[in-house]
Amino acid sequence: MKPQHKPETDILIIGSGISGLMCALKAAETYHVTILTKKKLATTATAMAQGGIAAAQENSDDGMREHEEDTLIAGEHHNQKQAVQHVIRHAPNMIKILREYGVEFDSELTLEGGHRKKRIHHTKDTTGKTIEDALIKAVKKQKNITIIEDAMTLELLGDTKACRGCQYLKDATIYTIQSAYTVLATGGAGQVYAHTTNPKVATGDGIAMAHRLGATISDMEFIQFHPTALLDRYNPHFLLSESLRGEGAMLRNAKGEAFMKQYDPRGDLAPRDKVSQAIFIEQKKGKVFLDISHKPAAWIRERFPAIYPAVLKRTKQDMTKEPVAITPVAHYLCGGVEVNTRGETSVPHLYAIGETARTGLHGANRLASNSLLEGAVYGIKAAEDILQKLSTKEKLPSGSAKKTSFSIASQPFAMKHVRQQIQDTMWTLAGIHRTQADLSKALFQLQRIRDILPPIHMVNEEIMEARNLLEVSLLIVKAAQKRKKSLGCHWIK
Ligand code: SIN
Repeated sequence: MKPQHKPETDILIIGSGISGLMCALKAAETYHVTILTKKKLATTATAMAQGGIAAAQENSDDGMREHEEDTLIAGEHHNQKQAVQHVIRHAPNMIKILREYGVEFDSELTLEGGHRKKRIHHTKDTTGKTIEDALIKAVKKQKNITIIEDAMTLELLGDTKACRGCQYLKDATIYTIQSAYTVLATGGAGQVYAHTTNPKVATGDGIAMAHRLGATISDMEFIQFHPTALLDRYNPHFLLSESLRGEGAMLRNAKGEAFMKQYDPRGDLAPRDKVSQAIFIEQKKGKVFLDISHKPAAWIRERFPAIYPAVLKRTKQDMTKEPVAITPVAHYLCGGVEVNTRGETSVPHLYAIGETARTGLHGANRLASNSLLEGAVYGIKAAEDILQKLSTKEKLPSGSAKKTSFSIASQPFAMKHVRQQIQDTMWTLAGIHRTQADLSKALFQLQRIRDILPPIHMVNEEIMEARNLLEVSLLIVKAAQKRKKSLGCHWIK
């Protein structure tokens, strides 16, 4: 049955990855929830996550302390300790909750870069999809949740005193939905770069909208580049999970040499920023490869049942027999809309969770497999906070919400070209390795792109995405300009 648009809801959640769905499930135990999602429920970065979700063993204080330390080391201690403790202490419970939703994790834990020991829960190499499928099944059963798919959120309603819902576009109609609480769970912004693992929908919509509303945004210079995306010509690039290295794969340069130890004593399993930067240097001399061919072929096919055939299909390279050419590409935004441990932004009645949020967990470089974890913890904590507030306070913030008068663009605008220009600018001038001169050029080029965008009231999905990409790119470049010294994934000369 087609979901009916309702002009009001208790809790509006924009986005449908792990954080949005966990938040919806918790909140819908008591109140009405509406989930708006730009494409289909499963069109998320969560569904593409391969490696897993990090959590120390339950009741193991030592294990949690070590997980905290590894998170801080990977993040170059730019993390907020309170957020680190908050997330990691809740990690074992998140695994338990996901199991209750039907996620069957493999019995063996795995390892990824920056982790001193195996603590990553996974389902072979499709952990994100298994989680997303289980949560979607649960959400679809819950009567208190209305799901609106193919809905592009245009703007948040309200001002810095209160968020009151949003306006969205669906089937060539603009709707307004008022909500007591609005939760941004729109994922990251990898599509600002020409080369990324992120799905096409990752255009930073939530961050751009929160910024336009006046919410505090921070740490935008910390873009994590995943060291091992498949070297091919697609956007998004196919990811070769870090768990391949966790299970023994090695990086090799064009001469076949294992080079990582020259750069970092932790070798192939150093944190991601260090590995990506080393590969970037090695790539000046020739291609870089990931090699797991020394492991038994049957085991590789069994342990990596999604990655093995995908690589074969896309590049004709057989991982069981030969090394595979890889490259670092944009993967994860450590910054975003600043929130406290309850997911509250600086704007009352507005929450941000998952990759949209800057919680302080990741610092200057995220520890592998901490992102699904963060999404789950903040999804639930935001819901609990909202439930508590709804039980004691008025529902909708008082006062009327001023709407923007949008018109749906009837004439075609060349947005594909604009998007490509933004992506190329960001990749060449504000990518893995930065200089102040390049960042100034990037700023200049982005400002010129702004001049060719359609007028602000003119909307369609492509225009909005281009506008959001541009806005987030400007935030990244300006933040990068301010940070004069290298730290974590911000590598500058
Ligand atoms: C991977 O499988 O390498 C990605 C996991 C993550 O981004 O933490």
